[in-house]
Amino acid sequence: MAKEIDEQPVIVKNSINEYIDKISRQINIYNFPWKINQISSIFLVGCGTAYHSCLVAKYWFEEYTNFDVTIDIASEFRYRKINFKNNCLYVFVSQSGETADTYAALDLCKKNKMKTCSIVNVVESSIARDSDFVLPIHCGPEIGVASTKAFLGQMLVLYMLCIKLSFDQKKINKKNYQEKIKNLLSLSNLCKKTLLIDSKIQKASKSFIKAKGSMFLGRGYSFPIALEGALKLKELAYVHAEGYPAGEMKHGPLALIEEGMPVVVLAPRDEYYKKTVSNMQEVIARGAKVLLVTNKSKNEVLSENIWETIEVETLSEDLFPFLTTIPLQKLAYYS
Ligand code: M6R
Repeated sequence: MAKEIDEQPVIVKNSINEYIDKISRQINIYNFPWKINQISSIFLVGCGTAYHSCLVAKYWFEEYTNFDVTIDIASEFRYRKINFKNNCLYVFVSQSGETADTYAALDLCKKNKMKTCSIVNVVESSIARDSDFVLPIHCGPEIGVASTKAFLGQMLVLYMLCIKLSFDQKKINKKNYQEKIKNLLSLSNLCKKTLLIDSKIQKASKSFIKAKGSMFLGRGYSFPIALEGALKLKELAYVHAEGYPAGEMKHGPLALIEEGMPVVVLAPRDEYYKKTVSNMQEVIARGAKVLLVTNKSKNEVLSENIWETIEVETLSEDLFPFLTTIPLQKLAYYS
């Protein structure tokens, strides 16, 4: 797992090399079988970590495209009474390309003659073989049971697809499009620097393994990253961990916070920052030990009594989900 976490700058670079023409500064999605006006909505489906990448992508697609965006967990999708729509693109995300529920969801769409696309790591897989169009994530074999590099790879392909379709829909202009591509070209390096954050995470992990339970909080695209951080901790350290949208804490879960409980708060300086900091102050007031994951900034964090702060690299808000994921993977690894 440590090896796969460390490989992330390289896989980011490989994927970007596959999809971005550095000279023309264009995202190339060759042979995409549909015209932009044949699609009016997108349905993203996956399980576990792959589902979390769909959840992050929902925020991007809603912000940058005109599509209606729906997401679902494959094991729910396959048994629901879906109103299939001809102008919807059904996207299936799976590292292995063999997950039974995701395959069954794809199969249901195929039987209903829907447009299907898969985002997979294993291109020889059943899901890749049976979908109309495949976008590989180019991560190389993921051997660890806990998915790490594939998550970054899935988010990256979803982001590039979103930005490309956004440009095709003329939702973003050429300047914005090329600015985003320029930022993507720096992502590998930013991941490399973020991976250097180590001893603080290692130290913090000691509190997580001793605790009865822990929480991971975030808003917006940091909410799925909170879910992913909690999933990794459960899966690897057998520690109870809940991922929650920070704004929902006051609707019940705040009752769980007790003296000394470790809580990860994801609060990069974005449009949600102030609101998340206010949620963080509420958990600190109830005695939580907050491990804050934010980004490097000239401005001090607007709060006192934070137990530990981890600062990831800063370039653009769109890249925060990639960078804030890395310390959470390491936290689970050390725990
Ligand atoms: O191969 P898939 O991406 O379809 O697998 C889906 C999930 O089983 C998987 O992401 C799982 O949640 C991870 N191993 C968690 O780390």
